[in-house]
Amino acid sequence: MAKEVAAEPSASAADEAGQPYILILYYSRTEGTKNLALHIARGVDSVAGITPRIRTVPELSTAVERTAPPVPDEGAVYCSKGDLADCAGLALGSATRFGNMAAPMKYFLDTTADMWMQNTLVGKPASVFCSTNSIHGGQETTLLTMMVPLFHHGMIIQGLPYAEPALNETATGGTPYGVTHLGKEGGHLSSHETALAAAAGRRLAATALKLLEKKLPENKLLEEN
Ligand SMILES: Cc1cc2nc3c(=O)[nH]c(=O)nc-3n(C[C@H](O)[C@H](O)[C@H](O)COP(=O)(O)O)c2cc1C
Repeated sequence: MAKEVAAEPSASAADEAGQPYILILYYSRTEGTKNLALHIARGVDSVAGITPRIRTVPELSTAVERTAPPVPDEGAVYCSKGDLADCAGLALGSATRFGNMAAPMKYFLDTTADMWMQNTLVGKPASVFCSTNSIHGGQETTLLTMMVPLFHHGMIIQGLPYAEPALNETATGGTPYGVTHLGKEGGHLSSHETALAAAAGRRLAATALKLLEKKLPENKLLEEN
Protein backbone atom coordinates (compact mmCIF):
# COMPACT_ATOMS: atom_id res chain seq x y z
CA MET A 1 0.00 0.00 0.00
CA ALA A 2 1.49 3.37 -0.99
CA LYS A 3 1.93 5.76 1.86
CA GLU A 4 1.48 9.49 1.62
CA VAL A 5 4.21 11.66 3.04
CA ALA A 6 2.59 14.07 5.46
CA ALA A 7 3.26 17.72 4.72
CA GLU A 8 4.47 18.26 8.25
CA PRO A 9 5.34 15.88 11.04
CA SER A 10 3.14 15.85 14.11
CA ALA A 11 4.80 18.96 15.42
CA SER A 12 2.54 19.38 18.41
CA ALA A 13 4.14 16.65 20.54
CA ALA A 14 2.86 18.61 23.49
CA ASP A 15 0.39 18.18 26.32
CA GLU A 16 -2.43 20.55 27.18
CA ALA A 17 0.01 22.82 29.03
CA GLY A 18 2.09 23.08 25.88
CA GLN A 19 4.88 20.85 27.14
CA PRO A 20 6.15 17.88 25.14
CA TYR A 21 5.43 14.53 26.75
CA ILE A 22 6.62 10.96 26.68
CA LEU A 23 3.70 8.57 26.43
CA ILE A 24 4.25 5.62 28.76
CA LEU A 25 1.75 3.08 27.53
CA TYR A 26 1.54 -0.27 29.30
CA TYR A 27 -0.58 -3.33 29.91
CA SER A 28 -0.23 -5.05 33.29
CA ARG A 29 -2.26 -7.50 35.37
CA THR A 30 -0.12 -8.06 38.45
CA GLU A 31 1.70 -4.72 38.56
CA GLY A 32 5.19 -5.68 37.41
CA THR A 33 4.94 -3.80 34.12
CA LYS A 34 2.93 -1.06 35.80
CA ASN A 35 5.66 -0.48 38.37
CA LEU A 36 8.28 -0.31 35.63
CA ALA A 37 6.06 2.30 33.95
CA LEU A 38 5.98 4.38 37.13
CA HIS A 39 9.78 4.35 37.42
CA ILE A 40 10.19 5.17 33.73
CA ALA A 41 7.90 8.14 34.45
CA ARG A 42 10.18 9.13 37.34
CA GLY A 43 13.09 9.17 34.89
CA VAL A 44 11.19 11.27 32.36
CA ASP A 45 10.17 13.65 35.13
CA SER A 46 13.82 14.24 36.05
CA VAL A 47 14.44 15.87 32.66
CA ALA A 48 13.45 19.53 32.42
CA GLY A 49 11.13 20.58 29.62
CA ILE A 50 9.28 17.30 29.10
CA THR A 51 6.71 15.36 31.13
CA PRO A 52 5.48 11.77 31.39
CA ARG A 53 1.95 10.79 30.40
CA ILE A 54 0.97 7.34 31.69
CA ARG A 55 -1.74 5.40 29.91
CA THR A 56 -2.99 1.83 29.73
CA VAL A 57 -5.27 -0.23 27.51
CA PRO A 58 -8.51 -1.99 28.47
CA GLU A 59 -8.81 -5.73 28.94
CA LEU A 60 -10.20 -7.69 26.03
CA SER A 61 -13.33 -9.62 26.80
CA THR A 62 -14.12 -12.81 24.92
CA ALA A 63 -16.71 -10.73 23.11
CA VAL A 64 -14.34 -8.01 22.01
CA GLU A 65 -17.14 -5.75 20.87
CA ARG A 66 -18.09 -5.15 24.51
CA THR A 67 -16.48 -1.79 25.13
CA ALA A 68 -15.01 -0.57 28.40
CA PRO A 69 -15.88 2.90 29.70
CA PRO A 70 -13.37 5.49 28.40
CA VAL A 71 -11.99 6.07 31.90
CA PRO A 72 -11.43 3.03 34.14
CA ASP A 73 -12.60 2.99 37.76
CA GLU A 74 -9.02 2.88 38.99
CA GLY A 75 -5.46 2.99 37.67
CA ALA A 76 -4.15 4.70 34.58
CA VAL A 77 -6.47 6.24 32.03
CA TYR A 78 -6.98 4.35 28.78
CA CYS A 79 -4.84 5.57 25.92
CA SER A 80 -6.54 7.51 23.16
CA LYS A 81 -5.25 7.71 19.61
CA GLY A 82 -4.55 11.39 20.31
CA ASP A 83 -2.32 10.48 23.26
CA LEU A 84 -0.22 8.41 20.88
CA ALA A 85 -0.33 10.79 17.92
CA ASP A 86 0.90 13.81 19.85
CA CYS A 87 3.62 12.24 21.99
CA ALA A 88 7.25 13.31 21.63
CA GLY A 89 8.34 9.75 22.40
CA LEU A 90 6.85 6.43 23.46
CA ALA A 91 7.71 3.87 26.13
CA LEU A 92 5.66 0.77 25.34
CA GLY A 93 5.34 -1.94 27.95
CA SER A 94 3.47 -5.21 28.37
CA ALA A 95 3.20 -8.20 30.61
CA THR A 96 4.67 -11.16 28.73
CA ARG A 97 2.24 -13.69 27.29
CA PHE A 98 3.91 -16.77 25.78
CA GLY A 99 7.05 -14.81 24.93
CA ASN A 100 5.15 -11.96 23.30
CA MET A 101 3.17 -8.86 24.21
CA ALA A 102 -0.31 -9.35 25.67
CA ALA A 103 -3.35 -9.31 23.39
CA PRO A 104 -4.88 -6.05 24.75
CA MET A 105 -1.75 -4.13 23.75
CA LYS A 106 -1.56 -5.82 20.37
CA TYR A 107 -5.24 -5.04 19.85
CA PHE A 108 -4.62 -1.36 20.57
CA LEU A 109 -1.66 -1.25 18.17
CA ASP A 110 -3.78 -2.90 15.50
CA THR A 111 -6.06 0.16 15.61
CA THR A 112 -3.23 2.48 14.54
CA ALA A 113 -3.14 1.76 10.79
CA ASP A 114 -4.43 5.27 10.05
CA MET A 115 -1.48 6.71 11.95
CA TRP A 116 0.84 4.45 9.95
CA MET A 117 -0.74 5.74 6.72
CA GLN A 118 -0.15 9.34 7.77
CA ASN A 119 3.42 8.82 9.05
CA THR A 120 2.29 10.17 12.41
CA LEU A 121 4.98 8.46 14.47
CA VAL A 122 7.82 8.57 11.95
CA GLY A 123 11.08 9.74 13.48
CA LYS A 124 9.86 9.69 17.08
CA PRO A 125 11.92 7.79 19.65
CA ALA A 126 10.57 4.70 21.42
CA SER A 127 11.63 2.18 24.06
CA VAL A 128 10.01 -1.06 25.14
CA PHE A 129 9.66 -2.80 28.51
CA CYS A 130 8.06 -5.93 29.93
CA SER A 131 7.56 -8.23 32.91
CA THR A 132 7.86 -12.02 33.12
CA ASN A 133 7.91 -14.56 35.92
CA SER A 134 10.75 -16.67 34.60
CA ILE A 135 14.20 -15.46 33.71
CA HIS A 136 14.45 -17.42 30.47
CA GLY A 137 10.74 -17.25 29.72
CA GLY A 138 10.83 -14.72 26.92
CA GLN A 139 11.89 -11.28 28.14
CA GLU A 140 14.02 -10.69 25.06
CA THR A 141 11.47 -12.16 22.64
CA THR A 142 8.76 -9.96 24.11
CA LEU A 143 10.90 -6.85 23.80
CA LEU A 144 12.13 -7.61 20.30
CA THR A 145 8.68 -8.46 18.98
CA MET A 146 7.22 -5.32 20.56
CA MET A 147 9.74 -3.34 18.54
CA VAL A 148 8.46 -4.73 15.24
CA PRO A 149 5.23 -2.69 14.94
CA LEU A 150 7.15 0.38 16.10
CA PHE A 151 9.64 -0.11 13.24
CA HIS A 152 6.67 -0.28 10.88
CA HIS A 153 5.58 3.07 12.27
CA GLY A 154 9.04 4.47 11.52
CA MET A 155 9.96 5.05 15.14
CA ILE A 156 13.58 5.25 16.31
CA ILE A 157 14.13 2.48 18.84
CA GLN A 158 16.29 3.26 21.83
CA GLY A 159 17.81 0.44 23.91
CA LEU A 160 19.70 0.56 27.19
CA PRO A 161 23.50 0.79 27.10
CA TYR A 162 25.78 -1.16 29.45
CA ALA A 163 27.03 2.27 30.48
CA GLU A 164 24.20 1.93 33.02
CA PRO A 165 25.98 0.17 35.92
CA ALA A 166 22.83 -1.67 37.02
CA LEU A 167 22.75 -3.52 33.72
CA ASN A 168 26.01 -5.27 34.58
CA GLU A 169 24.96 -5.92 38.17
CA THR A 170 21.35 -7.07 37.96
CA ALA A 171 20.48 -10.67 38.80
CA THR A 172 16.80 -10.08 37.97
CA GLY A 173 15.36 -7.84 35.24
CA GLY A 174 17.17 -5.51 32.86
CA THR A 175 18.32 -6.07 29.27
CA PRO A 176 20.05 -3.95 26.61
CA TYR A 177 16.83 -4.24 24.57
CA GLY A 178 14.74 -2.52 27.22
CA VAL A 179 13.94 -2.62 30.92
CA THR A 180 12.28 -5.68 32.39
CA HIS A 181 11.00 -7.03 35.68
CA LEU A 182 11.46 -10.61 36.77
CA GLY A 183 8.21 -11.16 38.62
CA LYS A 184 9.20 -13.83 41.12
CA GLU A 185 7.91 -11.56 43.88
CA GLY A 186 4.88 -10.16 42.13
CA GLY A 187 5.14 -6.54 41.16
CA HIS A 188 7.91 -5.66 43.62
CA LEU A 189 10.88 -4.32 41.64
CA SER A 190 14.52 -4.86 42.59
CA SER A 191 16.72 -1.80 43.10
CA HIS A 192 18.47 -2.58 39.79
CA GLU A 193 15.15 -2.76 37.96
CA THR A 194 13.99 0.59 39.35
CA ALA A 195 17.33 2.20 38.51
CA LEU A 196 17.21 0.89 34.95
CA ALA A 197 13.59 1.94 34.46
CA ALA A 198 14.37 5.47 35.60
CA ALA A 199 17.44 5.52 33.35
CA ALA A 200 15.36 4.38 30.38
CA GLY A 201 12.86 7.18 31.02
CA ARG A 202 15.62 9.74 31.37
CA ARG A 203 17.35 8.62 28.18
CA LEU A 204 14.14 8.53 26.17
CA ALA A 205 13.15 12.00 27.37
CA ALA A 206 16.59 13.41 26.53
CA THR A 207 16.49 11.88 23.03
CA ALA A 208 12.97 13.19 22.41
CA LEU A 209 14.00 16.69 23.44
CA LYS A 210 17.08 16.60 21.22
CA LEU A 211 14.99 15.56 18.23
CA LEU A 212 12.43 18.27 18.96
CA GLU A 213 15.12 20.92 19.46
CA LYS A 214 16.87 20.01 16.23
CA LYS A 215 13.49 19.85 14.54
CA LEU A 216 14.58 16.78 12.65
CA PRO A 217 11.28 15.84 11.14
CA GLU A 218 11.75 12.54 9.37
CA ASN A 219 9.04 13.49 6.90
CA LYS A 220 11.03 16.54 5.89
CA LEU A 221 14.01 14.33 5.23
CA LEU A 222 11.82 12.02 3.17
CA GLU A 223 10.55 14.94 1.12
CA GLU A 224 14.08 16.18 0.43
CA ASN A 225 15.35 12.80 -0.81
C1 LIG B 1 -1.36 -16.53 29.52
C2 LIG B 1 -0.08 -16.19 30.20
C3 LIG B 1 1.11 -16.39 29.53
C4 LIG B 1 2.33 -16.10 30.15
N1 LIG B 1 3.49 -16.30 29.47
C5 LIG B 1 4.66 -16.11 30.08
C6 LIG B 1 5.88 -16.38 29.39
O1 LIG B 1 5.91 -16.72 28.23
N2 LIG B 1 7.03 -16.21 30.09
C7 LIG B 1 7.06 -15.83 31.41
O2 LIG B 1 8.11 -15.75 31.98
N3 LIG B 1 5.91 -15.52 32.07
C8 LIG B 1 4.73 -15.65 31.43
N4 LIG B 1 3.56 -15.36 32.08
C9 LIG B 1 3.63 -14.72 33.40
C10 LIG B 1 3.58 -13.19 33.30
O3 LIG B 1 4.26 -12.69 32.18
C11 LIG B 1 4.23 -12.58 34.53
O4 LIG B 1 3.47 -12.93 35.65
C12 LIG B 1 4.39 -11.07 34.42
O5 LIG B 1 5.20 -10.63 35.47
C13 LIG B 1 3.07 -10.35 34.46
O6 LIG B 1 3.29 -8.96 34.30
P1 LIG B 1 2.38 -7.91 35.10
O7 LIG B 1 2.78 -8.06 36.56
O8 LIG B 1 2.74 -6.59 34.55
O9 LIG B 1 0.97 -8.27 34.86
C14 LIG B 1 2.35 -15.61 31.48
C15 LIG B 1 1.13 -15.39 32.15
C16 LIG B 1 -0.07 -15.66 31.52
C17 LIG B 1 -1.36 -15.41 32.24
